[in-house]
Amino acid sequence: MPSQLICFNKDCRATYPVTEVIYNCPRCGSLLETDYPGLELDPENLKKVFRERRMDNSTLNQSGVWRYRELFPFLEDYSHVVTLREGNTPLLQSRPAGEYGGLESITFKHQGFNPTGSFKDNGMTCGAAQAMRLGMNRVGCVSTGNTSASMTAYAAAAGLQPIIFIPHGNISYGKLAQALEYGARTLQVEANFDQILALVRELAGRLGIYLLNSINPFRIEGQKSIAIEMMDQRDWNPPDWVVLPGGNLGNISAIGKALREMHELGFIPRVPRLAVVQAVGASPFYRFMQSPAPDAFGAEKKPETLATAIRIGDPVSWPKAWQEIGGSGGAVEMVTEAEIADAKAQIGKAGIGCEPASAATLAGIKKLTAAGVIGRSADVVAVLTGNLLKDPDYVYRYHTGQLKTESGAEIRGHFENKPVVVPNDADKIVELLSR
Ligand code: F0G
Repeated sequence: MPSQLICFNKDCRATYPVTEVIYNCPRCGSLLETDYPGLELDPENLKKVFRERRMDNSTLNQSGVWRYRELFPFLEDYSHVVTLREGNTPLLQSRPAGEYGGLESITFKHQGFNPTGSFKDNGMTCGAAQAMRLGMNRVGCVSTGNTSASMTAYAAAAGLQPIIFIPHGNISYGKLAQALEYGARTLQVEANFDQILALVRELAGRLGIYLLNSINPFRIEGQKSIAIEMMDQRDWNPPDWVVLPGGNLGNISAIGKALREMHELGFIPRVPRLAVVQAVGASPFYRFMQSPAPDAFGAEKKPETLATAIRIGDPVSWPKAWQEIGGSGGAVEMVTEAEIADAKAQIGKAGIGCEPASAATLAGIKKLTAAGVIGRSADVVAVLTGNLLKDPDYVYRYHTGQLKTESGAEIRGHFENKPVVVPNDADKIVELLSR
C-alpha cells in the first residue's frame, strides 16, 4: 500500500516519502500527517479478520495496535516491529462514576492497562518501528513523564539508545522511576515542557536523535488504534461522545483522525462528537476555542497544574485538534484542580482508578452535562490515559488532606479517605470498626 507524509496545511499539502526524517513540512513549517492515497478496504471482511486475530498467538496479532495494521499501513516490512503487547485495554462501565458526571452511566477506555501504564504505548510501538526502519540508533523526547517512560521501554526492547529531556521537578516519581529503570539517559532540564520542546528540536538534528514526541506522525498513527480497538470492542457502534484530556493535543488528533478515517472507509456509520478537557492553569486550547481563528492561538507562558501530565502551555498539535473538534461538532472544557481531584477520587471509588490528568475527563463531563451540552442519557466513552500508580504521591496527599496547588492553596477534597493508626489491640479495633 503506498503511504506518504503530507503537509497538514490545506494551502500547502506538499508530500514527502515516509522514509524522510522530518517532523514539520520543509516547505511551510506546518504539521505533517501520514496519508495512504487510494486506500480502499473491505470493512466487513476486515472486522472478521480483526476478531480472529485476537485468538492468534503470533506476536503481531497479540498486539492491540498491530492487529489493526491495515488501517495504518505505513510499513512494508513488519520485521521492524517491536511490541510489548500494547493496547488490549478494556472498556469499563461504571454507573456511580457516570452519575457523578451527570450521566446514567459512563464507559472508560482505560489506557492505563498498557505495558508502561499509559496510552503512549499505542503510539510508541509505531514510532519505534519507524525508527528501526529508518536505521536510527538514538531516540529522544521531551516529556511530562509518560512519553519518556514509554519511549524508553520500547527503545530498550528494540536495542535503541533512549535520551529523555524532562522538566526538572515537574514529573511524577512513578514516571521518572520507570524511565530510570528502563535505562534512559535522563536529562532534567531547568525549563518547562514547551521550552524544552524547542530545545530538543534543535538537538535532534545536531545529535542524530529521532524525535518521538507526538509531532512525529507515526506515533499519531499508532494512537489511532485506541479508537479502532474501542470500536471493535463496541461491535463498531460509535458512542455519542468520546472525551479525553488535552495536553499537547496529539491524542485528540489521533483519535479524531481514526474515527474520521473509519467513517470514510465504511467501518462505522458516523463519527462521535469529541470533547477535550484541560486544566484551568494550562488551558490555551480552551481559550482559543472560545473564538478560534487561524492566527489567534495564544500560548500560556507559565502553565500550572498538579495534573503534571497536561502541564503544557503551547500545544503543538492545536491545528489538528481544532479540525477534529470542529468537524465532529465537539466541545472543549476546562476544570479546576479541585474538580480534577474529586473526579479522580470518584473514578477510584468505582474500583477503576487513574492518574490526575485522566480524571479531567470526568470533571469535564460533569460540567458539560450540567450545561446541557452532553445529555443525561448520552452514551459517553471517557479515555483514561494513565494508571493510578503513576502518581501515588498525589493520591496520598488528597486522601490525607495535604494536597496543595503550586501556589500553595489547599485543595479540600470531598472524598478523603484517611488511614487510621491503631494500637495492636483486638478490642480497640473491634470497637473502632463497630462505630
Ligand atoms: N493524559 C496523560 C496521562 C498524559 O501523559 C498526557 C500527555 C495527556 C493526557 C495529554 O495527551 O498531549 O496527546 O494531549 N503526556 C505527554 C507526555 C505530553 O510527555 O507524557 P496529549
